[in-house]
Amino acid sequence: MKREEIMLEKIFKKYKLQKSALVPILQDIQAEYGYLPEDVLRQVSQKMKIPLIEVFGVATFYKSLSLIPRGRHHIQVCTGTACHVRGAKRVLEEFERDLCACAGQTTEDQEFSLETVNCVGACALGPMVIVDGGKYHGHMTATKVKPCIRKITSKEAE
Ligand code: FES
Repeated sequence: MKREEIMLEKIFKKYKLQKSALVPILQDIQAEYGYLPEDVLRQVSQKMKIPLIEVFGVATFYKSLSLIPRGRHHIQVCTGTACHVRGAKRVLEEFERDLCACAGQTTEDQEFSLETVNCVGACALGPMVIVDGGKYHGHMTATKVKPCIRKITSKEAE
């Protein structure tokens, strides 16, 4: 059995193939691959006896799930109203310039994915940037972008 099959079997077993567990199953698969490969979604559909169109529907509904490969680091810039009025647009532009990737894209070296989000509930600290889903950087400015990226990459060098 290939590593991929073993991993999928483990996930299916964990959730006992319950149809109501489709979202957590897709989240676990994404955690393993960094995205949801099409052939894996086909296997989910067959194994769980859920129409493929339904599996794709769920996979495309949630912003945390992705059908395209993401970078090793995930940067989200909040462009909700409160962050927008505090300069989120300039912060986003600086990330795009520095990473050479537009919002919604992954850098060529697959290191960073950049995307926008719409309010993460910390408006008073805006503009807000979230790194790898859990590190919140409040009061972000364009001049803090380079150090932020440097900090992410330097942590790996440690
Ligand atoms: S608008 Fe950005 S955290 Fe609310």
